Amino acid sequence: MFNAELIEGLCNLKTPFYYYDTNLLHQTLVSIKKAADLYNYHTHYAIKANANEKILRIISSYGIGADCVSGHEIKRAVNCGFKKSQIVYAGVGKTDDEIIYALSQNIFCINCESLQEMEIVNNLAFKVGKKQRVALRINPNIEANTHVNISTGTKSTKFGLSSNELDFIISNKDNFSSLLIEGIHFHIGSQITELTVFAHLCAKVNLINTRILESGFKIKHINFGGGLGINYEIPEYQIPDFRKYFAIFNKNFVQRTTQSVHFEPGRSITGQCGMLLTRVLFVKTNENTKTVILDAGLTELLRPALYQANHKIVNLTSKGINELYDIAGPICETTDYFGRSIKLPETQRGDLIAIFSTGAYGEVMASSYNLRSLAEKYFSDEILTKVHTLI
Ligand code: LLP
Repeated sequence: MFNAELIEGLCNLKTPFYYYDTNLLHQTLVSIKKAADLYNYHTHYAIKANANEKILRIISSYGIGADCVSGHEIKRAVNCGFKKSQIVYAGVGKTDDEIIYALSQNIFCINCESLQEMEIVNNLAFKVGKKQRVALRINPNIEANTHVNISTGTKSTKFGLSSNELDFIISNKDNFSSLLIEGIHFHIGSQITELTVFAHLCAKVNLINTRILESGFKIKHINFGGGLGINYEIPEYQIPDFRKYFAIFNKNFVQRTTQSVHFEPGRSITGQCGMLLTRVLFVKTNENTKTVILDAGLTELLRPALYQANHKIVNLTSKGINELYDIAGPICETTDYFGRSIKLPETQRGDLIAIFSTGAYGEVMASSYNLRSLAEKYFSDEILTKVHTLI
């Protein structure tokens, strides 16, 4: 992933910056496409994971659809080559302006997450004289066995229609005359590594699907959301096992011949292709602990502070003897750490550090807190020419 020539080139760039391995992204896309095609499954990349335009253009070139959660994401998806007919629009809080915009775009469907949202989309669709395709995002009340802050499938969370709301919709379908209720949608959480969770989801969806079909709805598509986890411990060249993942749905979900099956992978597509490159500003000793202060912090990568996430950290420029370090950022926040007691070769001011698996929920969650500038980004297929022009 990082050879000597590349490291030398990267050392000439101003840190911190994101570095994307576009080869790995292509390989991941080939792999997911092949695995999904085995069962004729449809995938919609979750733009929220990484909305970088170059990354999006690469993803859309594989004919994959998009999962958007704001009007701006829909716009970005369309500009970056995703087909409108393959765009789903989800999100628990859509503004009227966003709904009106989505109505005008003729996208695949709007996923509704509450009764009130259904009423508003119905009214706005009526006003513009349109019958809008929608899917019901249903909260299946399932544990995803992942970090609590990225669990979305239990009834204590704000996501999806509750069973009471679903009952109401089933008994009052005539209230929604401007909606074509054609899909059901689920998303129970992110970074799910216990694949049996998806089998449980299928069991629940089978019951819900049967119930809704029996109530007279013509449900044409089932969307299982995203959530497939990646390997943060050994990230190098790890492409998620998409075959195994889709096989679970093929085995456990009872698909009717009139129904298509959809997924919204985010992290599993872009997670491993991104790295955050940062330099050591200082090495200080507090009590008995050596602390490395980097020039990247939670403003560039929020995941460790928000979800206690561990990303692999590598010193690219030292060949010294291993020592233990706490790795911190420069931000005035006590949680601004990337790791504690991390083994690194003897580390000094100026060393170049790579933080792995930051292609998903990295760059998109950056902020300018402390009035910091947003980090630059470089791509493996452009980097050497860029480096030459910089030298
Ligand atoms: N579909 C829906 C409705 C979602 O809410 C999400 C993610 C996805 C698909 C994509 O999930 P993925 O395949 O990426 O797991 N910032 C957090 C993750 C938040 C996920 C939000 N929803 C993190 O850094 O771990």
